[in-house]
Amino acid sequence: MINIVPTDIQPYHTKVVHAPIETLTPVIIEETNTFGLKCKYVATANPAYNSEDYPWYPFNGSNGCGKNGESQCFSYDNQKALKNHFDAMLKKKSKLVIVEIGILADEYSRTSTSVFLDNKRDHDIYIGIDIRDLSSYSNPDKNIHIIQERSENYDSICDFFKTMGIEEIDVFMIDGDHSINQVYKEWEYVSMLSKDGMVVLHDTNSHSGPYFAVESIDTTLFDVYKYCNDIRDWGIAIAVRK
Ligand SMILES: C[S@@+](CC[C@H](N)C(=O)[O-])C[C@H]1O[C@@H](n2cnc3c(N)ncnc32)[C@H](O)[C@@H]1O
Repeated sequence: MINIVPTDIQPYHTKVVHAPIETLTPVIIEETNTFGLKCKYVATANPAYNSEDYPWYPFNGSNGCGKNGESQCFSYDNQKALKNHFDAMLKKKSKLVIVEIGILADEYSRTSTSVFLDNKRDHDIYIGIDIRDLSSYSNPDKNIHIIQERSENYDSICDFFKTMGIEEIDVFMIDGDHSINQVYKEWEYVSMLSKDGMVVLHDTNSHSGPYFAVESIDTTLFDVYKYCNDIRDWGIAIAVRK
């Protein structure tokens, strides 16, 4: 991964945290060979902040949890948007492979994880990847598998897919580290996305990685749906492969 500091973007602790979101533009250096993204390398404000190269956008006075001031980060509207698309996938495909990077917030209810686990059929495969030990949610009898791993450890995660006989992903949720280069790395898994498969990005209003990833999606390959485009909500976007 090449990190470039473009002249129009300052380290986040000075200008970027106060910059309107529209003024920050990823630098397109070359055509991507990462499936479905228009740019491969993007700016990192300051390599020292490699886990949050552009951290949070400053929506001052906002709790980000939804327009009703809800207490949990995955708002009712986030849930509704995700569930509608997930229901459509359940109707369309007789068996799903769901992969989620970054699973569960503080509680099980009203998370993206709960949307998947409460609505998937037993034979649909769910794989949750997190750096935390959340193995208590594993339930192999119901095809629920939790991997404690860093999402960027692509080879070891793909080895796990291989042992499971998984060649394609139907639903891919990105909700882990949220920095730009990290989300672009996580997009590598999209090369495994099935036809009609969907990618879900949370925090599209509030974190740099998902925000720029959505802006970079090749719309000749994906239909992109942006929901909760309101500064009171972290935001969610869903890209469905054409
Ligand atoms: C916002 S939470 C996920 C929320 C969840 N999707 C939900 O709706 O409740 C982010 C999670 O990503 C995990 N995480 C952060 N960096 C990661 C990485 N590099 N690889 C895997 N998981 C990561 C954190 O441990 C945390 O559990």
